[in-house]
Amino acid sequence: MKIIAGNWKMNGTHENLVKMIQDLSAIDTKNAIILCVPYTMLCTDSGKIALASQDISAHDHGAYTGEISAKMVAATGAKYTLIGHSECRQYHGDTNATVRTKAEQALSNGLTPIICVGETMDEKQAGKTMEIIESGVRESVPSVVNSNIIIAYEPRWAIGAGITPTSNEIESAHELIAKTLDDMGLGGTPVLYGASVKGSNALEIMSIPHVDGVLVGGASLKSDDFIPIITSVK
Ligand code: PGA
Repeated sequence: MKIIAGNWKMNGTHENLVKMIQDLSAIDTKNAIILCVPYTMLCTDSGKIALASQDISAHDHGAYTGEISAKMVAATGAKYTLIGHSECRQYHGDTNATVRTKAEQALSNGLTPIICVGETMDEKQAGKTMEIIESGVRESVPSVVNSNIIIAYEPRWAIGAGITPTSNEIESAHELIAKTLDDMGLGGTPVLYGASVKGSNALEIMSIPHVDGVLVGGASLKSDDFIPIITSVK
């Protein structure tokens, strides 16, 4: 069983989501499917397809105009939230410390955080990939984790770029994340790979050791692209 998460980013409409849920509900799969959708779509009745927000506030409540708390997301029935996605780190300035605070908010409100870590092209070229991944995990994961979390390894330079790291690079990254989590007492935490996943590479990527599923951006927007990813593994 793999975890297949789609990240719609700022795309789609409520009608698109209703159609996607119908299409996904009709397929025969044992894989867990999560759709990370814009906040305005979270109240959609999604049956066995789990919904997630794409971010949450670092704050519990109060004078934070425009923000949405973990409690508000949980009240929609959503079970998960993405945290620390590359675009939130890039455009909203989220640091590992912010991500950790948001993950604490998620956990204390019954949401499973999908915590994203990964290196930029500059960091990769400076030979810092493994360092960034390890510090990303150590600094972004709360010190007290009393329910499930998920980690997503997203090489930031490969997101939306149509290119992926080599299988060996993905394997080394996932091995390091698994080892780090083990060291933190969180062995067995699922680790997803995300960045330029599509129907043609999903099986190969999900066959790599320590890859427990995928986080899919562009190819999760249309059923014709997303379903082959979900059904590529049994
Ligand atoms: P992509 O995006 O699949 O379009 O590369 C992945 C992500 O941002 O989660």
